[in-house]
Amino acid sequence: MPLANAFLGEDEFPTEYFYELKPALCGNCHLFQIIECPDHEKIFNPTYPYLTGMSSYVTAHLRQTAEVISSEYLGRTPSFVVEIGSNDGSFLVNYAELGIRHLGVEPTASAAEVAKSRKINTCVDFFSDGLAGNIRSEHGPADVIFGANVIAHIDDLKGVASGVRELLADDGVFVFEAVYLGDVIDNLSYDQIYDEHVFTFSVQSVAGIYEHFGLELIDLEHLETQGGSMRYVLAPVGSRDIQPDVSRWLAIEKKRKLNTPETMDAFRNGVEAARDGLRHMIDDLAADGKIICGYGAAAKSTIVMNYCGLELSRIPFMVDSTPFKQNRFSPGCHIPVFAPEVIQEKSPDFALVFAWNHLKEIMEKEKEFTQKGGGWIVPVPLGNVAGDSVILSPSRG
Ligand code: TYD
Repeated sequence: MPLANAFLGEDEFPTEYFYELKPALCGNCHLFQIIECPDHEKIFNPTYPYLTGMSSYVTAHLRQTAEVISSEYLGRTPSFVVEIGSNDGSFLVNYAELGIRHLGVEPTASAAEVAKSRKINTCVDFFSDGLAGNIRSEHGPADVIFGANVIAHIDDLKGVASGVRELLADDGVFVFEAVYLGDVIDNLSYDQIYDEHVFTFSVQSVAGIYEHFGLELIDLEHLETQGGSMRYVLAPVGSRDIQPDVSRWLAIEKKRKLNTPETMDAFRNGVEAARDGLRHMIDDLAADGKIICGYGAAAKSTIVMNYCGLELSRIPFMVDSTPFKQNRFSPGCHIPVFAPEVIQEKSPDFALVFAWNHLKEIMEKEKEFTQKGGGWIVPVPLGNVAGDSVILSPSRG
């Protein structure tokens, strides 16, 4: 696999980087993970293209999350909120506006610049236990440490956990959101497994790992974001009551044998069937002379296209709203990426929505495409959205 977000220019084709994408389940801690991790400097480089603010839904979700955290956990004034992977400041802006002390830690210079221009205090670095110690010495302990879709991206899991414990106040909380393994399995969304998603957490794996670092899982909430995520709330052991949802979810996972090799075998079989199903669907449409474009040059698109062998002859172009991705080529398959307006100009018959986690928002923006008879395809079977009759998806095999 190439790096999922490494959109490139033609001159870079000969030196493109590939690694072996090997998912595995640990027999000890039951953590689902990839076992060959490309260097994080290679991934989160100064041109890493992701900006949180590109989705109004994600921005609204972060605003609501900030409100929940404020009402449930920010008792004290003045408070101090730290975000790991603060990107363009879309979460912390909700605290900055209220004059609440905050600090974002963001290694990607391009995103950090956007945050700084919005007057969000930002430290351009990777979060680590060393940095956590420095932040605590300089600013004091954090009442809340937050991370959305970032904790699963850092291969130094132990460094993050000990850093969080070091920086967190004794009555503070660590809140993080991550794609949930149960949803990946249910939706057969293998496209969530790539270089940046080193870990795909379950409730059992999170509870077990953080216990070693003096933090216990005290609450959690299942979310629709990212195609199915979990918000985990952890606190220093014994500092807060453990909510009943924690044992309820542990029991659900046990009953469905989520963290077991047999579930993983069934997942692999389902994924292979979904890959073959998508490939046949696209081949049949192409044989009928239909033009299919990709919608959303998401990291997920790189996995689907490379795994299913969807090349230029099948997907002649993709559209995406991120300026950095436009007029570049997709990793591995080298499909050109254009601005979304190109869809009106080229009038394809179908849009294959790689960014299916934004399907609703995208379909709302592209009503005209649908009205003109354009069809929508999602690349994975998605138990929970494929009910809509205008959407095609591969079968579950
Ligand atoms: P993202 O949700 O970050 O998924 P991944 O983690 O797999 O990269 O990416 C969504 C992509 O879709 C991003 O490149 C921007 C694009 N996009 C659009 O082109 N139009 C839209 O309306 C939205 C919401 C996203």
